[in-house]
Amino acid sequence: MPVTKVLTAGIGEANLRDINVYRERGGYKQWERAVREMTPAAVMEACDKSGLRGRGGAGFPTGRKWQFLPNNGKPRYMVCNCDEAEPGTFKDHMLLEETPHLVLEGILIGAYGIGCNHAFIYIRGEFKEGYEIFMQAVAEARAAGLIGKNLFGTDYSVEVTVHRGAGAYICGEETGLLNSLEGKRGEPRLKPPFPAVAGLYGMPTVVNNVETLAYLVPILERGWEWFAAAGTERSKGYKIVSVAGHVQKPGNYEVPVGTPVRELIEIAGGLFPGRKFMAVQPGGQSSACIFEEHLDYPYDYESMAKAGSMMGSGAFTVFDDTTDWVKAARNSIRFYAHESCGQCTPCREGGHWLERVLDRFVEGRGLRGDLDMIRRVSTTITGLNLCALGDSIEPFLMSVFNRFPETFESRLLPEENLVKA
Ligand SMILES: Cc1cc2nc3c(=O)[nH]c(=O)nc-3n(C[C@H](O)[C@H](O)[C@H](O)COP(=O)(O)O)c2cc1C
Ligand code: SF4
Repeated sequence: MPVTKVLTAGIGEANLRDINVYRERGGYKQWERAVREMTPAAVMEACDKSGLRGRGGAGFPTGRKWQFLPNNGKPRYMVCNCDEAEPGTFKDHMLLEETPHLVLEGILIGAYGIGCNHAFIYIRGEFKEGYEIFMQAVAEARAAGLIGKNLFGTDYSVEVTVHRGAGAYICGEETGLLNSLEGKRGEPRLKPPFPAVAGLYGMPTVVNNVETLAYLVPILERGWEWFAAAGTERSKGYKIVSVAGHVQKPGNYEVPVGTPVRELIEIAGGLFPGRKFMAVQPGGQSSACIFEEHLDYPYDYESMAKAGSMMGSGAFTVFDDTTDWVKAARNSIRFYAHESCGQCTPCREGGHWLERVLDRFVEGRGLRGDLDMIRRVSTTITGLNLCALGDSIEPFLMSVFNRFPETFESRLLPEENLVKA
């Protein structure tokens, strides 16, 4: 089994919340080495050459994102995205709670790599315990001289601000997050300009996911070649996959990117006895389902796209033959309808229309004309919105609607079937 312990090393074995334990295991050595011995450009180069891609959902190459920052003399900001509100994703808050110093060390290395003196972390409001643990970690690191002015006797200084969100999925979208961090409503901004050019307080900004930044620590420790040697041709390194749904041992499993879908299910204990595999939603609530014919696909960015879905943030939800697809689709749509910030008409109205129609199907009161309407409304929502939330509404619904049409037909009002006959 390809379960690997990189970011997850020591979790469950040692009290990594304690800075002394973390340091005994080599913690903060890469931070000190970066500041003392490396230039920011060398850190950026290691990140780029490692092939690390963003673990927050879009999979954008991290080094390339950093290189977009203009050299215009303005202050730069590093913002760590710890909003993690994607249903099915539960890796970032595990890292935050179980190994907060690793998260902090990754943020600090990232900040240094982009040449910034002020880093921020935006923590989802509901992560109360994680927030308190992380605040403690920052206080310990500050007391140990790892944050602050003239670090390690150099002229490099850095501050870290911890910000607690107020509970909205849309605050995980990077520009919604930046607005929220600035004290405004957490509504996505029109892009361009992208955050690299005009982000936090209008300054050049990088927003990176918790897991993305945490991988900088082992990349510096073991070398970019080590990271680039794992994974597939274009999807390098390792990934924490949050396996959930109809498996016997749901949990976070760290594996080389490219581990086959079938193996991920087995790693998580496999299906329950007597149950039949139906589908996997491989990239969070925003992703389409993949099916039996995809079980031997490598779990990487390219293969998941080839299967008509995505790897996203690594939320991997398994469905067996006990699934009520109509209910699952309605619940997914209900989530998006509730979380839409309302700026774009297709997202705001489309989600609610679909929810109302699917409510009828859940109650066995679907109308034959609804089947066509579900398809039409779904295709009209996508591509017409300010942010990716709007485009995330239909993939799951349409994937199961197309695959299991009989389930939806079976929820029509009985007289609707008579009309057809
Ligand atoms: C609706 C929505 C919610 C998102 N939520 C998160 C989140 O909770 N955490 C995260 O890292 N990225 C989230 N993203 C992606 C971010 O916009 C952004 O791409 C990411 O933080 C960049 O980090 P990365 O390059 O390290 O992946 C979300 C995107 C959308 C559209
Ligand atoms: S797509 Fe939806 S969530 Fe995103 S900005 Fe538009 S209305 Fe808001």
